[in-house]
Amino acid sequence: MKEKVVIYPGTFDPITNGHLSIIARTLKIFDKLVIAILNNPQKIPLFPLKERMAMIREVLRDQTRVEVDSFTGLLVDYVVKKKTNVVIRGLRALSDFEYEFQMALMNRKLSREVQSIFLMTDYKWFYTSSTIIKEAASLGGDVSGLVPAIVCKKLKEKFGYG
Ligand code: PNS
Repeated sequence: MKEKVVIYPGTFDPITNGHLSIIARTLKIFDKLVIAILNNPQKIPLFPLKERMAMIREVLRDQTRVEVDSFTGLLVDYVVKKKTNVVIRGLRALSDFEYEFQMALMNRKLSREVQSIFLMTDYKWFYTSSTIIKEAASLGGDVSGLVPAIVCKKLKEKFGYG
């Protein structure tokens, strides 16, 4: 039987334990997961694309069913290029809902083939995000437990107290 591939798109600046929880749970449903990082020249990330990819590869080095990739342009085009039709996204608190709904409907308008699936984030990660973690870390806050150890180390180095 053909393996079922799912695309997990995002910015991942940086990857958090919330993302890892979604990845682990998605792998219980699908055969292969592709982490697709948007390469967006309009936005200046904290971690350059290559660094984000390297961190994710390191964190998931034992996971043979995960591929780490990047894309530019429309997500639906990338999904078709990867010869699949499913996108997974995590849903946190209420504030995510509108944004995710908007994106899913736009993607549906752009391609009737591509299906968006949502997993409710584990309650432990309900209120964490890459953005708030970066803010806390930039001010010297301890974010261990919210991100993988290697990301914690990189954040400390980035903000000059590693
Ligand atoms: O982690 P993020 O920043 O919430 O991820 C957003 C992402 C990358 C999934 C979204 O911006 C995206 O898919 N961008 C690609 C451009 C696109 O297809 N736009 C039209 C549909 S919203």
